Amino acid sequence: MTKKRRQRGGAFLMAALAAALLTGCGGGTEKSVKSIKIGVTVYDQYDTFISQMMNMFTTYASQKEEETGVGINVEILDASGSQITQNEQVRTLIEKGCDVICVNLVDRTEPTTITDIAEKNEVPIVFFNRELVAEDLERWNQLYYVGADAFQSGIMQGELAADAFLRDPSLDKNGDGVFQYIVLEGEAGHQDAIVRTEYAINTLMEQGVEVEKLGYAIANWKRAQAQTKTTSMLSQFGSQIELIVANNDDMALGAIDALKAEEIPREDWPAIFGIDGTKEGLAAVKSGEMNATVYNDKEGQALQMLNLVYALATESGLEDISLEDGKYIRLPYSKVTQETEGQTEKGTS
Ligand code: GAL
Repeated sequence: MTKKRRQRGGAFLMAALAAALLTGCGGGTEKSVKSIKIGVTVYDQYDTFISQMMNMFTTYASQKEEETGVGINVEILDASGSQITQNEQVRTLIEKGCDVICVNLVDRTEPTTITDIAEKNEVPIVFFNRELVAEDLERWNQLYYVGADAFQSGIMQGELAADAFLRDPSLDKNGDGVFQYIVLEGEAGHQDAIVRTEYAINTLMEQGVEVEKLGYAIANWKRAQAQTKTTSMLSQFGSQIELIVANNDDMALGAIDALKAEEIPREDWPAIFGIDGTKEGLAAVKSGEMNATVYNDKEGQALQMLNLVYALATESGLEDISLEDGKYIRLPYSKVTQETEGQTEKGTS
């Protein structure tokens, strides 16, 4: 890599990170210490999973700074759902001198502008969470991806739902031996939405559970949208609904909000399954309102992404990072039930 590394006068340790978060990528001015600058742009800062992952990322950046003595300045920008805004943000972060940029694409089919700017300026890009197609990641050798295997979360969610149905006859409310379900889907076109739904339902069937789809709605990962959509499906299908399969915890929580708002007695609720293991999701599993969830390892993804950007920015230690096909880091999912809740979350306060 030919990009020159800047030695900036640095604010120190925690202070450097705090200052960076407030003021942008620029380092301090007092003393000459080696520092790196990391730019991040997220598709929507109000997305629960993404914001919790970013909290971990900044926590790990502070820890790394303390461990290594290298100043790590992190600037996180919100693209607010606009790919055009995100393209501009990447341009600005490069102009500000960021050594590496982490991109949570708004539109995972539109990485070209970003990869072109990055290649021209020789700034590596680590895409995360919203997976681009493999050919797009091949466009330049300094493009990486950190995330998880969507199909695994779908399979685990299907297994959890099948297990619940086969173990608890009361979930089959009309006693017909068939699990009648509705699906709450994430954004149309998102790899996690498409794949999770397909694998969850196929797995249920493979486990020997007969299913019947009553309806589905796209709620874009959002709790409030899921509440509205569930309310309308409740008025359409009422007590026929025995199972709610949600592509993430926020939407499962939105379904719970709807059940509560409609004052449906607790014993008449359908079984509800989420994915993510956000703080709120885990609390709902613990209280029994959500039957189970699948843990999307935000700590693992944040830590691995930090280690990767650190290696790229300092041009050291890349050989210690295990990359699939030289480009991918994928963290495994895990199942969370009321019995196992509490053993899962790895570092959030
Ligand atoms: C998924 C996650 C969702 C949402 C989405 C955003 O992996 O499960 O809750 O955060 O990413 O791209």
